[in-house]
Amino acid sequence: MSKPNRPDDKAEATGLKKGLTSYGDNEFSLFLRKAFIKGAGYSDAALTRPVIGIANTGSAYNPCHGNMPQLLEAVKRGIMLAGGLPLDFPTISIHESFAYPTSMYLRNLMSMDTEEMIRAQPMDAIVLIGGCDKTVPAQLMGAASANIPTIQLVTGSMLTGSHRSERVGACTDCRRYWGKFRAEEIDSKEVADVNNQLVASVGTCSVMGTASTMACLTEALGMSLPGAATPPAVTSDRMRIAELTGAQAVQMAHDRLTIDRILTPDAFENAMRVLLAIGGSTNGIVHLAAIAGRVGLNIDLQSLDRMGRDTPVLLDLKPSGQHYMEDFHKAGGMATLLRELKPLLRLDAMTVTGRTLGEEIELAGPGFAQSVVRSADDPIYPQGGIAVLQGNLAPGGAIIKQSSADASLMEHEGRAVVFENAADLAQRIDADDLDVKADDILVLKNIGPKGAPGMPEAGYIPIPRKLAVQGVKDIVRISDGRMSGTAFGTIVLHVTPESAIGGPLAYVENGDRIRLSVSKREIALLVSEAELAQRRAAAPMVAPTAERGYQKLFLDTVTQADQGVDFDFLRATQTRGTIPR
Ligand code: FES
Ligand code: MG
Repeated sequence: MSKPNRPDDKAEATGLKKGLTSYGDNEFSLFLRKAFIKGAGYSDAALTRPVIGIANTGSAYNPCHGNMPQLLEAVKRGIMLAGGLPLDFPTISIHESFAYPTSMYLRNLMSMDTEEMIRAQPMDAIVLIGGCDKTVPAQLMGAASANIPTIQLVTGSMLTGSHRSERVGACTDCRRYWGKFRAEEIDSKEVADVNNQLVASVGTCSVMGTASTMACLTEALGMSLPGAATPPAVTSDRMRIAELTGAQAVQMAHDRLTIDRILTPDAFENAMRVLLAIGGSTNGIVHLAAIAGRVGLNIDLQSLDRMGRDTPVLLDLKPSGQHYMEDFHKAGGMATLLRELKPLLRLDAMTVTGRTLGEEIELAGPGFAQSVVRSADDPIYPQGGIAVLQGNLAPGGAIIKQSSADASLMEHEGRAVVFENAADLAQRIDADDLDVKADDILVLKNIGPKGAPGMPEAGYIPIPRKLAVQGVKDIVRISDGRMSGTAFGTIVLHVTPESAIGGPLAYVENGDRIRLSVSKREIALLVSEAELAQRRAAAPMVAPTAERGYQKLFLDTVTQADQGVDFDFLRATQTRGTIPR
């Protein structure tokens, strides 16, 4: 077959040829595309290189990504040194404290933006740059669906600050100092002073919150370079990792190392082990379930719980322990942890380097004396950080972060003090006439995926002021919401099904007895089935929906916590199995 005339065969970049369907014949579409990119000053020589897209999530609303200009420069340098052509493009960026009603409400939108821009634009590989809590899961979800060679770079943690010579960092210490202020232990002058010190630089929260958790899980999944999880945002280590990430993306483009070869059941199993061993954020399990769902895998919560029984918490970071991310980095970062965890890991799992996780652990070499990652025989906490609860209050399961809960409350029966929704809570939690005692159980309804909507991090219900000023530091709390990875307390979360769709939580009343037994993994509402049936008949559920727009899409299609709070139509259409096996 004779080929049509081509202006210059050699000048075609592999990536630029992707998706040429819009303007008549393909050759003309490529001709147009090249004319436009040359308008930006590119030469033919540049356009012969593999094209590496870079998802740029810099935003003035996102200080956790405040080092984006430097990271972009370093990633581009790495791509060009390795012979690729970097083309960065913007996507949605989400910051925890600026996104209303909650960042989680927007995570799936960011994942759709990421997926569709990877699909729409010609590129041979993609470097995802994210950091703040929802951004990394959103990017991995989108890329998993788009399925091209993908490497993740996180922005890195912020530095810690110092308040009156005490070391502080967001946001475990934000909560601790606000708690002191509510309990009238410190005055408004001091709380204003500490506000200047909590976030000492750009970068993500400096404790084992969701951002740090996702950084560690990303490395455990094999989706970032070895050593990429822990360098703080402003360090030269972070910039070197960025440069190397760019270079590796070019190699992945040559090797066609697509994301489906990395996001295997073994990879998710490793990530679940790491989540348990770092005392990671409870949000980590929701995000892992969502990413897994994009490649057709279901996460079995009961098995996560079984894994937790033989996976100790080894990492001594706040809120479960003492240190901060920069200390973890100085202690060798993930290599130190993975070396200790090695007997429990699936070492054959593939990583972005083209080598297996086991090979990377070997390459990292021997460890050294340090005090941030404990050995398996001297753990921070003997079991995994997260326990999975079941019972008539949560037929689809609930979770508790046992490593940051009060040991004396983990076997507890008490009287329910019920709040119907977040607004009801805000109105009454500090009332002097609130009927509440320290051994009661606070119940908050309607903060699940559809209830709030977006499953906000309101599960960290504050201690009622009248108890806080009496010195009460912890109380059992139950909700269908999430909590920040930086929070701590005896807090039962992700109650499934949620109250807004008629889960049993919806029918809890003031004065009901509830039993929590973490040792038996039980969360029980001590009310007869007949009584509950009567309550259901008296107040039938009305499914939440909205008139239009993204809120309608969200309410009509969002799944429950066990499915990752993803939209049902974004999950893979074929199920490939359950993890762990
Ligand atoms: Fe962005 Fe904590 S607010 S990581
Ligand atoms: Mg957070």
